[in-house]
Amino acid sequence: MTQPEPTTPVIELRALTKRYGLGDACFNALDGVTLKIEKGEFIAIMGPSGCGKTTLLNVLGLLDSADDGEYMLDGKAVDRLGSARHARVRSNQIGMVFQSFNLINRLTVLENVALPLTYKGVRRIKRLERASEVLAQFHLQEREYYMPWQLSGGQMQRVAIARALVNEPSIILADEPTGNLDSRSSHVIMEELSELHKKGNTIIMVTHNPNLTSYASRVINMLDGRIASDTKIKVDTRGANTPVKIPLNQRANTIKANRAKAEASAHASPAVKRTTKSSGIAKKTSKKTPSRSKKRSAS
Ligand SMILES: Nc1ncnc2c1ncn2[C@@H]1O[C@H](COP(=O)(O)OP(=O)(O)O)[C@@H](O)[C@H]1O
Ligand SMILES: [Mg+2]
Repeated sequence: MTQPEPTTPVIELRALTKRYGLGDACFNALDGVTLKIEKGEFIAIMGPSGCGKTTLLNVLGLLDSADDGEYMLDGKAVDRLGSARHARVRSNQIGMVFQSFNLINRLTVLENVALPLTYKGVRRIKRLERASEVLAQFHLQEREYYMPWQLSGGQMQRVAIARALVNEPSIILADEPTGNLDSRSSHVIMEELSELHKKGNTIIMVTHNPNLTSYASRVINMLDGRIASDTKIKVDTRGANTPVKIPLNQRANTIKANRAKAEASAHASPAVKRTTKSSGIAKKTSKKTPSRSKKRSAS
């Protein structure tokens, strides 16, 4: 029987080491991390504070470089490239999401999302059009001209995810993306990440919350800069792996016709469960949360 061709891992780390400090104070924040990540995995990285999770994510995102070892991205060594090449690789392949959202307060939501396209030399009108399309997928187009501080934490993080996706990267790195959010907003964000995973993206997420590992296909535990355990989880595509179902933003209004239809059926039968797909990102509504039509008129 012929064996299937082995695929190139999207990420491969070999004995990666990152040192901080000098002399007696020198220590390995990453201590010989060896890891293969296949395309389409959803990895949750856990471990106590200070064990090297953020350092690992920053090295993976080419925001920082390792002192020893190798980092292969799509089979190519990237750790020794210069900062300009790093920026190019990052902008083509990697989207990053942070705990503190990292939105720029003096820019509108639309401008924030369009920002990564600036570094690619895309013209302003095209940038804003593309950003608007991505925001529509997240049902945030009505917030385009808001400033970040006018949004809730959950909305800010969804804007940050939209910004991470505007370049259509295949890898999403998220460092405690729900760390500053209440549980409801956390699950909305997790549903978004889960949808991106289902569309084939590779997701690597640091989290402190063991409940959120239920979205992952693999859980890596770190300790003192090393991988302490690495567990693959059998994903049940029928939903067993997504036990927490919190409805997403109900304002599924990418298209006016959809909105009218939703309103009509909400009046007719507000308790009917409904799923609306738009640009590949599914939005779910259910009877658990009342219609937000009042809010719509207020915003
Ligand atoms: N820029 C830095 N300079 C010196 N030490 C650092 C730096 N960044 C992180 N560290 C140290 O490296 C270790 C790992 O940090 P980090 O990766 O942020 O941990 P985690 O995200 O798991 O909480 C910690 O001891 C931290 O204090
Ligand atoms: Mg951290």
